[in-house]
Amino acid sequence: MTQKILILPGDGIGPEITAQACRILAACQASGLDVEVEEGLLGGAAYDAHGEPLPAETLEKARAARAILLGAVGGPKWDRIEDLSKRPEKGLLGIRKELGLFGNLRPAILYPQLAEASSLKPELVSGLDLMIVRELTGGIYFGQPRGIEERNGERVGFNTYVYSESEIERIGRVAFEMANKRGKKLCSVDKANVLEVTILWREVMDRLAPEYPDVELSHMYVDNAAMQLVRAPKQFDVIVTGNMFGDILSDAAAMLTGSIGMLPSASLNESGQGMYEPCHGSAPDIAGKGIANPLATILSVAMMLRYSLNESVLAARIEAAVGKVLDDGLRTGDIASTGTQTVSTREMGDAVLVAFEAP
Ligand code: IPM
Ligand code: MG
Repeated sequence: MTQKILILPGDGIGPEITAQACRILAACQASGLDVEVEEGLLGGAAYDAHGEPLPAETLEKARAARAILLGAVGGPKWDRIEDLSKRPEKGLLGIRKELGLFGNLRPAILYPQLAEASSLKPELVSGLDLMIVRELTGGIYFGQPRGIEERNGERVGFNTYVYSESEIERIGRVAFEMANKRGKKLCSVDKANVLEVTILWREVMDRLAPEYPDVELSHMYVDNAAMQLVRAPKQFDVIVTGNMFGDILSDAAAMLTGSIGMLPSASLNESGQGMYEPCHGSAPDIAGKGIANPLATILSVAMMLRYSLNESVLAARIEAAVGKVLDDGLRTGDIASTGTQTVSTREMGDAVLVAFEAP
């Protein structure tokens, strides 16, 4: 059966990088991948066209798609929209929530060719391969009540950090299963020395552990985890954490690999429907210049093939093609170093395509 793929280029560098990823997707179609590709608007681009960051039409297309490929949303152009519910970021949070994409997989893999691009010493990061499993549709991002209101003559801002046992359990299972398939080590990150919600988080993780006897479960406070990530990142295999801690730790982990421009992500719901996006943002400062790194988005296509389309052979072919262009010394500006050849977004896309097609 032909499956539908929805492309949401979004804002900033989004359209440039998704364009390159779509060329790879087309090459996969030519190699027999049976998908139908369509486009939609999300974020600032959708706000400009329809006055809404997540138009009903986009949501409808998203629901009908097996998988979604997203560029990035947001930018200074929309930062002054007073109504927070109309900001581009709300489009992204809305689509995650509406589709129930609770399981966010953010791998941080150091390509050996890029060891020099990391801000840490090569020996600390060489061989790094960790996976952050971030809960994506709950926690303080969505908790009620929330708002800014007048209390005793001054304005007060408030949010609610809340997780139910069932929410913790389902992300816990994703993480335990991931650890089972990888290095069999799971570190659950919380702030159980201060926050009740994460005391419950820790209890639920402990309760699940006996069901996964091959996985070694440990717990770490989030402040320590931030420190350990930059001190000795190779101690981690899989990290599981809530929405906000995962947001922060995944940016830190990404940078260990040299550039956030290299890292893909997957956000999955219970039926395996997924949204795939680079971990980086819309980079408005370089948008339109044709210099952005398309590799995270291209690698997001590989994750899509693997997790939503059951096409791990094509996925591996894309990943190998990316490895090949790095071996050949091609780099966009963000990962350039001495002795490498700096190329544009499009030239990087060309090179990956050539490597993908090569026998
Ligand atoms: C991310 C981003 C988003 C988040 C923003 C753009 C709402 O930082 O995907 O990590 O905080 O989840
Ligand atoms: Mg983030």
